[in-house]
Amino acid sequence: MRLFFLGALLASLGRISALEIELTDPQSIKDAAAKTAYGSLGWYAGNETGQIPGSFPEKWWEGSALFMSLILYWYYTDDDQYNDLVSQGMQWQAGDCDYMPSNYSSYLGNDDQFFWGCAAMTAAEINFPEADDGYSWLSLAQGVFNSQVERWDSENCGGGLRWQLYPYQAGYLMKNSISNGGLFQLAARLARYTNNDTYSDWAQKIWDWSASTPLLNNETWNVADSVDINDGCSTQGNNQWSYNYGTYLIGAAYMYNLTETSEWKAAVDGLLGNLIDTFFTENLGGGNIMAETLCEPKELCNYNEILFKGIVTTWMVFVALVVPETYDQIFPKIQTSAQAAALSCSGSNNNTCGVRWYQSTWDGWTGMEEQIIATDVLSSVLVSEKRTAPLTSTTGGNSTSNPNAGLGDSSGDSGTKTITTGDRAGAAILTVVFVVLWGGMVGWMVLGEPAV
Ligand SMILES: *[C@@H]1O[C@H](CO)[C@@H](O)[C@H](O)[C@H]1NC(C)=O
Ligand SMILES: *[C@@H]1O[C@H](CO)[C@@H](O)[C@H](O)[C@H]1NC(C)=O
Ligand SMILES: *[C@@H]1O[C@H](CO)[C@@H](O)[C@H](O)[C@H]1NC(C)=O
Ligand SMILES: *[C@@H]1O[C@H](CO)[C@@H](O)[C@H](O)[C@H]1NC(C)=O
Ligand SMILES: *[C@@H]1O[C@H](CO)[C@@H](O)[C@H](O)[C@H]1NC(C)=O
Ligand SMILES: *[C@@H]1O[C@H](CO)[C@@H](O)[C@H](O)[C@H]1NC(C)=O
Ligand SMILES: *[C@@H]1O[C@H](CO)[C@@H](O)[C@H](O)[C@H]1NC(C)=O
Repeated sequence: MRLFFLGALLASLGRISALEIELTDPQSIKDAAAKTAYGSLGWYAGNETGQIPGSFPEKWWEGSALFMSLILYWYYTDDDQYNDLVSQGMQWQAGDCDYMPSNYSSYLGNDDQFFWGCAAMTAAEINFPEADDGYSWLSLAQGVFNSQVERWDSENCGGGLRWQLYPYQAGYLMKNSISNGGLFQLAARLARYTNNDTYSDWAQKIWDWSASTPLLNNETWNVADSVDINDGCSTQGNNQWSYNYGTYLIGAAYMYNLTETSEWKAAVDGLLGNLIDTFFTENLGGGNIMAETLCEPKELCNYNEILFKGIVTTWMVFVALVVPETYDQIFPKIQTSAQAAALSCSGSNNNTCGVRWYQSTWDGWTGMEEQIIATDVLSSVLVSEKRTAPLTSTTGGNSTSNPNAGLGDSSGDSGTKTITTGDRAGAAILTVVFVVLWGGMVGWMVLGEPAV
């Protein structure tokens, strides 16, 4: 009853449920982003007394997606009201400067950890204020890089990162694009920021290995989702997800900016072309509105998958900044997507956003993920106001380097750890998150005996 009256009251105030932006009026975009950012925090209580900062018990990686959207929101809008909340959560979950916090480390994947490192790297590149008491943003990205490089698995398929870390996880037997493309991206961004060859050498190595498998085709620029260690990584799970393209694309863009070689430019053009062809399709939004084409039309996106396109829009804009030749190809598509996303935020009389931007009206979905992706694309379109490339240590980026961050931390890195019942329950909870990606394996994942 109370809800009904509140809704009626709000509706009577008019315009309140519509979120429209005027592309020529940055303030209208900032106002819209303020609403979606506020809405995303409706699902976050980690800053409240007695709660755990940055904690998302059943979907830990999503904390990084929330914080990355708010880091970029601050950058593009200058609204700093959430900065302390972001710093607190980013530091609380940092583990030993490597985003392997012990509450989660026994059942996370390389991709989960990467997304937190990516948020930290982003913070470093835009001089997001450092926490008063905590790890520097750059060192957190280095910590993730260092701990993942230690897991490079030369014994299977000639290299590559496994998806997950332990034999009792289903993803232990797979190598996937987001894990390898994630580390590649991180290496490329660290290389450009620090100008340290170790990182660019690793970026090249991860790229070459990826191209030696069906994950990354360096002629057609197809990016597959995963390969199976059991058959020597020779066959692919070719589901098309935007973040797999996005992560190899942004890494290639940074490598091109750093090296200016034609090979990297060809990679940027090829991957960007496929990303646009696959995820900005004519039949969904006239070729200019981003859609996760594999799951949106059938309304089958799970909460991971909803987030992908938002994150990818932020990466595309960074690509446009480090490879300015691509700006005119990318920016109009971000604009149209932002307009459509804003129109999707007309739900529940409180600017609840939907999943399918191409419908240009609320599609009935509700969640933190929907608010995050709207904030991502609305912030990103403000890049036209702020065409400053991501910083480096020589262009004003002043986050402190710690090349040894994350080294020698055994929390979660030891394959010999005794698995407790709690760990197993955790593994089952988290693996459920990935059921849609590997639907056929779910029975095995939940019921299978840990192999340790
Ligand atoms: C908006 O309304 C929906 C549906 O009642 C609710 O789930 C959501 O938490 C609300 N969002 C905010 C920011 O209040
Ligand atoms: C937590 O953050 C939300 C969103 O900014 C804010 O409304 C709330 O007051 C904060 N809580 C505390 C205890 O600071
Ligand atoms: C881990 O869990 C404990 C107990 O709930 C909590 O006190 C602590 O803050 C958590 N740490 C992280 C990093 O979430
Ligand atoms: C493409 O990848 C293959 C397989 O790793 C490699 O032999 C070839 O040199 C690569 N081509 C280019 C242009 O990098
Ligand atoms: C590298 O990035 C800078 C900053 O945006 C830009 O001025 C420069 O043109 C880029 N280099 C290349 C090769 O695109
Ligand atoms: C880093 O640069 C920012 C401005 O971009 C400045 O506000 C901050 O004080 C600097 N930090 C240090 C430690 O120099
Ligand atoms: C470059 O990075 C590597 C790997 O982290 C590190 O061992 C080395 O000390 C770094 N070099 C400099 C000059 O920072």
